[in-house]
Amino acid sequence: MYCKVAVLMDVLALFVSGVAEILLIHKRVGESVELPGHSEEFGVTLAAWTYQGKEIAEHKQNVTYPLISQFEGRLEMNPKNFSLTVRDLTLQDSGVFILTSVGAKGQIPSKSITLKVHEPVSNLVIYKKIQQLANRSCSVQMMCNASSSSNLNYTWKRGNEMYRGDQQIQFILSPGEGDHNLICNASNIVSEQSASTTVSCSNETNPTGNSLHTCVVKIMYDVPFHNIW
Ligand SMILES: *[C@@H]1O[C@H](CO)[C@@H](O)[C@H](O)[C@H]1NC(C)=O
Ligand SMILES: *[C@@H]1O[C@H](CO)[C@@H](O)[C@H](O)[C@H]1NC(C)=O
Ligand SMILES: *[C@@H]1O[C@H](CO)[C@@H](O)[C@H](O)[C@H]1NC(C)=O
Ligand SMILES: *[C@@H]1O[C@H](CO)[C@@H](O)[C@H](O)[C@H]1NC(C)=O
Ligand SMILES: *[C@@H]1O[C@H](CO)[C@@H](O)[C@H](O)[C@H]1NC(C)=O
Ligand SMILES: *[C@@H]1O[C@H](CO)[C@@H](O)[C@H](O)[C@H]1NC(C)=O
Ligand SMILES: *[C@@H]1O[C@H](CO)[C@@H](O)[C@H](O)[C@H]1NC(C)=O
Repeated sequence: MYCKVAVLMDVLALFVSGVAEILLIHKRVGESVELPGHSEEFGVTLAAWTYQGKEIAEHKQNVTYPLISQFEGRLEMNPKNFSLTVRDLTLQDSGVFILTSVGAKGQIPSKSITLKVHEPVSNLVIYKKIQQLANRSCSVQMMCNASSSSNLNYTWKRGNEMYRGDQQIQFILSPGEGDHNLICNASNIVSEQSASTTVSCSNETNPTGNSLHTCVVKIMYDVPFHNIW
């Protein structure tokens, strides 16, 4: 009990003296992260990690204690360098981790690490709407949609043309121009997914004179998946 009070008071003192190092780490759900600690040269005698202001692990006199928290069973504090490993990350683990320590020569500047946990991009689907205009050209509307916990960045590629940041694109195709290959790419900071589809404006269909009608649509999916981290 006394030990814990002492550590908390050190934490407060260090908040007053400021944070020396600030890091931002992005991870995917299910991964592990090692939040770096201090090097041994500091001769750390007391070290504590807090998450969102609550103490979650401490090290005192060669003994490390994981404290009961949402991280139960998933935390490990290295007794040599005081790095904190968190396994099986969930979206709820996103937040600010602070390491405060006391060494042989007194307080060591603290470290603040912001962890952002993201879901990888999934369920990418391409929607298309192709309508033949009175002059037999086709008006093509494409939409790409995927799911993720974080904001997605959509990019469309049509031949050599890139449409950046657009979830939906629209263009006119001339009849008999052949197949156009389109690729949609959805990405966030930890992953990406892409799919391709082919559209063409066929003039095999007889125009009905005054009304619009749908052209032939071919669709083909090819969904490679890459990790960036
Ligand atoms: C901390 O020590 C562990 C075990 O010796 C090692 O695997 C890890 O890379 C070290 N971390 C840092 C940040 O030095
Ligand atoms: C801590 O452990 C090291 C080796 O594991 C030992 O040499 C040292 O005396 C221990 N310190 C205390 C305060 O128990
Ligand atoms: C057909 O009409 C559309 C819309 O008015 C136009 O953008 C397109 O250039 C026309 N196509 C041809 C081949 O004239
Ligand atoms: C796009 O995907 C999200 C997440 O899967 C879903 O909630 C939304 O309904 C989708 N929108 C359309 C137009 O399909
Ligand atoms: C979205 O992706 C494009 C293409 O890779 C890139 O240039 C752009 O910076 C990205 N934008 C964001 C907000 O990530
Ligand atoms: C489609 O229309 C173009 C121009 O009107 C014509 O040259 C071409 O032969 C047509 N193609 C087919 C398959 O009917
Ligand atoms: C998708 O976008 C990401 C981020 O901009 C990029 O790294 C990746 O190479 C793109 N993939 C494809 C298949 O275009």
